[in-house]
Amino acid sequence: MKHLLKLEGMPRGAMEEILASAEAIKAKRGGGETKLLDGQTWAMIFTKSSTRTRVSFEVGIRELGGAVMFLNANDIQLGRGELIKDTARVLGRMVHGAVIRTYAQSDVEEFADYSNIPTINALTDDEHPCQILTDIFTFQEWRGPIQGRVVTFVGDGACNVPVSWVHAAAALDFELRIAAPSEFQPSAETLAKAGGNIACTEDVRAAVEGADMVYTDVWVSMGMEAESEERLAKLADYQINGELMRLANPDALVMHCLPAYRGKEIDAETFEAHADTIFTQAENRLHTQKAILAWLAG
Ligand code: CP
Ligand code: NVA
Repeated sequence: MKHLLKLEGMPRGAMEEILASAEAIKAKRGGGETKLLDGQTWAMIFTKSSTRTRVSFEVGIRELGGAVMFLNANDIQLGRGELIKDTARVLGRMVHGAVIRTYAQSDVEEFADYSNIPTINALTDDEHPCQILTDIFTFQEWRGPIQGRVVTFVGDGACNVPVSWVHAAAALDFELRIAAPSEFQPSAETLAKAGGNIACTEDVRAAVEGADMVYTDVWVSMGMEAESEERLAKLADYQINGELMRLANPDALVMHCLPAYRGKEIDAETFEAHADTIFTQAENRLHTQKAILAWLAG
């Protein structure tokens, strides 16, 4: 049984298979795609908010011939304390796959263990694998192979998005630089586990020098709202803006997983200057996740 639970430990070949099929799936959209999920029903269990992930999975599953059921975790008994392993064993007898967005990575892993159906991590506190596979697909679509290129992440370098970047860099062989205050850098344990060419620094200007892609994410991830004020103050110097981008390669892409908070992790002018890339990145969630669904079925 295949799952997509995290990029940590995911073999390079599996990532490359998904990235290659995303390209073919995007090109074929609307023109006789295989109805790979014909007769299937997939459950989407979300404990956190979502626009892109929810819509792209719902549309993608339908376009592949499947039916989809969105379950807000608070509306099912899970929200009243029913165990994950019991929920998993019930759903596993009724639906064909699950897409889960929640807090603890261990909850998604436990669901996968007990449900016996393909399970996808649609974001946890630890990782956002579907997002980073999409981002790499988008980089390669615009700029060619990512191998040997320089990706700089600026901002909260310890949250789910940069941690998935860490594992992707090690597997796909590109240089990753993370510019963040030391308390917002990935743990030494995560970096050691991943290996690869990854450098963390508080020197944002040095990290962006010569970069091929400069990437950011929100400063206050879902679940961290109580720390908002403190985070905004500590991360204030880690904004992507025009002055910083002058240090990157002249054709560097600016990417953002969205939602964006202008004037915080990115200034409005830089965001709008790169909006075409950023919204293609959002659109590519659909194509890449269809490729993930195809990989799980394969
Ligand atoms: N980037 C992303 O996962 O967006 P949503 O939170 O809207 O799904
Ligand atoms: N790090 C962010 C990503 C949002 C898509 C969060 O977890 O809220």
